[in-house]
Amino acid sequence: MCGIIGYAGARQAAPIILEGLAALEYRGYDSAGIAVLDADGIPAVHKKSGKLVNLAAALQGSLPEGVTGVGHTRWATHGAPTDFNAHPHTDCDNQIIVVHNGIVENYVQIKEDLISQGHEFTSQTDAECIPHMIESYIEQEYSFEEAVRASAREIKGANAVVAISTRDPGKLVAFRLGNAGGLVVGYGQDELFLASDLPALLPHTQEVAYLAGGEMVTLDNHSANYFTLDGMSVTKTPMHVAYDALSAAKGEYKHFMLKEIHEQPEAIINSLRGRVSFNDLKVVLDEFQISDADIARIDRVVFLGMGTSFNAAMVARNWMESLARLPSEFDNSSEFRYRDPVIDENTLVVSLSQSGETADTLAAMEKAQENGALQLTLCNYPGTQTTRIADHTMLLRAGLEIGVASSKTFTNSLISLYLLAIDIGTRRGVLEESRRRDMFAELARLPDLLGQALADESQYEVLAQKFGRRSDFLYLGRGINFPLAMEGALKLKELSYIHAEGYPAAEMKHGPISLIDDEMPVVALMPRDDLYEKMLSNVNEVKARGGTVIAVATEGNEDIKKRVDEVIYVPEVSSLINPVLMAVPMQLLAYHIALWRGCDIDQPRNLAKSVTVE
Ligand code: G6P
Repeated sequence: MCGIIGYAGARQAAPIILEGLAALEYRGYDSAGIAVLDADGIPAVHKKSGKLVNLAAALQGSLPEGVTGVGHTRWATHGAPTDFNAHPHTDCDNQIIVVHNGIVENYVQIKEDLISQGHEFTSQTDAECIPHMIESYIEQEYSFEEAVRASAREIKGANAVVAISTRDPGKLVAFRLGNAGGLVVGYGQDELFLASDLPALLPHTQEVAYLAGGEMVTLDNHSANYFTLDGMSVTKTPMHVAYDALSAAKGEYKHFMLKEIHEQPEAIINSLRGRVSFNDLKVVLDEFQISDADIARIDRVVFLGMGTSFNAAMVARNWMESLARLPSEFDNSSEFRYRDPVIDENTLVVSLSQSGETADTLAAMEKAQENGALQLTLCNYPGTQTTRIADHTMLLRAGLEIGVASSKTFTNSLISLYLLAIDIGTRRGVLEESRRRDMFAELARLPDLLGQALADESQYEVLAQKFGRRSDFLYLGRGINFPLAMEGALKLKELSYIHAEGYPAAEMKHGPISLIDDEMPVVALMPRDDLYEKMLSNVNEVKARGGTVIAVATEGNEDIKKRVDEVIYVPEVSSLINPVLMAVPMQLLAYHIALWRGCDIDQPRNLAKSVTVE
């Protein structure tokens, strides 16, 4: 949720930290702060509520000098987004400086103990107890590093912390507890970095090492040493990540999200590369190499995710049932983790998380692990927490996604799930070659078709002008397109702050129909498929009650123009693959309405790209 960056090297730390915070701002943006130690170890701490630009304005171009420092961009959990509650936090003497991501679950008790020892607090955050804990251990003659370790052992919950000390200038000490809240060490030339996520590191280095839960690292300008919280040394070899800084730049696009929407055809090509063998009509998933006996014993598939990943999970159930003939279900990770689900070693659990960090998904995966399930996870970044729990990982290969609302990671999740269903269906012997031939031919055309769906953006500008002022939208879909109605409504809520609901079209008669009037547009997802006539009936029901309908229909369907108010066309494809193309109008309609309303598209209010708390 929050973004953390730390630097130890020979260059001035402040510009590097501010640049890193800008790259991490998608993680949280209600306040930001920076702390730098000068050559004598004297700290300069600056923090400001609001977005990073407020902090930059407060610094007025006069950046604190020094070669060691930390920075933070916050997504509030405890305490309002004020200057005082912004990170970094310090101890009573301003000698220990800490940035933190997560929730210190036992902070009330810790804070009370520290106050009774005479510590004075200046914020309402849980984070502030950490520098005071470290201070209290230092008062007991612990070294800085030992004091951080002792504090880490007392803290409960999933947390990531980086600390610096005026007594040890040049050194960063960091730890990570539990699964949530990533920390990555970046190795540069005579400099090392620490960050919550790759985008802050990639302008400087592609050599990185991830900190696991229960690990600690101390680093300076030439080395990083890793330990367990018991002080046992841990050996880590940095890995090379393929993303470069250029891929994170906005280029010609107004927003990262628009760029990412337009990158979908290429992202899909990447996700197909090497996985689809057009010659022998097989899907080859190197990342999911399991024996025929293992395939044969799978008797059920459970898909898990949150937000957009959950919507992809809903689509996947249809594919797994239809193509692999396996009983399948889906659930929100947050619900699954607190149920008593019937899972055993014959269940395949497929979790989806583009970030690989979502706290609820990690907990749900742990639950599945306890029950002995076989686990595959889909994630956009190697080495993240979900990949550590799962038995197998399929990377989404979408490239960096900076926009907080997911777009290309959604379509690449869909493609990966589609390939998985084909693979399992083929290996189970239930997906005939003739059907696969048609499906593969269509897969080959898909990037181009997606490009066609992206071609005419002006229609969305017109729709945004017409409907941008409305306060409620209803999205209707049936069958495999119902999850896309959910995704369309989610995108509109996230980006434009307009209330929107996604409904199975027939369910409309059981409630939402009472809301129909000429003020609430109804977006009807109605490609030409087996359920088209049924959708048409639902659309007629809306029209009969004076409603306004925006239909998303198949190219060439002229008749629909007479029946609804507005039409967005998508190219013709088979009904099973339709959701991939449907994603485009769902994204572009929300994008252009949000643009027309002047919303902050890449960083919508209150949201965060990685939700590392429950
Ligand atoms: C947040 C993001 C969403 C994302 C969801 C799940 O809410 O804003 O865009 O869909 O988390 O994230 P995950 O990384 O698990 O896919």
